[in-house]
Amino acid sequence: MRLENKVTVITGAGSGIGAAIARAFVAEGARTALLDVNLPAAEELAAELGGDAAAFEADVTELDQLKAAADAVSERFGGIDALVNNAGIRIVKSFLDHTEEDWRRILDVNLTGQFLAAKAVVPHLITRGKGKVVNVASIAGIGGRPNRVAYVAAKFGIVGLTRALAMDLSANNICVNALCPSMIASPLNISLAEDGEIGPQWAKDNLARRWGRPEDVAKVAVFLASDDADYVTGSEYRVDGGEATGLIRAGEMTI
Ligand SMILES: NC(=O)c1ccc[n+]([C@@H]2O[C@H](COP(=O)([O-])OP(=O)(O)OC[C@H]3O[C@@H](n4cnc5c(N)ncnc54)[C@H](O)[C@@H]3O)[C@@H](O)[C@H]2O)c1
Repeated sequence: MRLENKVTVITGAGSGIGAAIARAFVAEGARTALLDVNLPAAEELAAELGGDAAAFEADVTELDQLKAAADAVSERFGGIDALVNNAGIRIVKSFLDHTEEDWRRILDVNLTGQFLAAKAVVPHLITRGKGKVVNVASIAGIGGRPNRVAYVAAKFGIVGLTRALAMDLSANNICVNALCPSMIASPLNISLAEDGEIGPQWAKDNLARRWGRPEDVAKVAVFLASDDADYVTGSEYRVDGGEATGLIRAGEMTI
């Protein structure tokens, strides 16, 4: 069990990738706090996972809520060893249709939310003398994507936050890394995965020739939260079936 005796905190754990990470962490022996703005969703999953999981309500844009949740987790499970910054939202529309409100909301939840959750949880990791922070970015954090100006800017910001935080927390023995998933068939985009035309078409856009699953991301999160990753920090891990590996021109590969 790779996370035995570890206490982990996952934001946005009530759905999709966060829920898969929570399942994998508990299976690997971690006691896991499921933070979500959607408390009923987190509670339902906690009930399924049993005594090693507990749900806490927290909006990642609210530092007070995050601090209260982190303190409650630490009290309940006895300290904290790892934070997974996973909560995120997406707005898909052209630049011309993006409003100032859209931009601020995406930056607030997706980027500032990770900074604030780190502010709330890192002091607990420092107390431990060791820790792991895993920030869920995206391949939209290493390359542009159409109709997602705010989302792409936030995800690039997460990669920058990850590298800078890795430096600042190195003296505290805390490793900070980013996960960059591609198209994962989570509730966020299940309608695309299940679309008769787009689903099979987009499945061909990567070297694994299928859509990613939340479990694919969870497996890498387990590694990055574990002691196996003690010599890994400031890195981005793509979980994209090789999609962002390089340019393939039409007709160069037949699949
Ligand atoms: N699904 C994909 O293809 C994909 C690809 C790359 C990156 N990602 C990233 O993975 C992360 C999880 O995405 P998902 O597909 O599982 O989405 P999801 O919509 O299935 O789950 C997101 C969870 O975050 C929670 N949440 C939203 N706003 C919150 C807030 N302000 N405070 C606390 N919790 C909040 C939601 O309640 C939900 O439980 C996001 O950061 C997303 O950008 C997803």
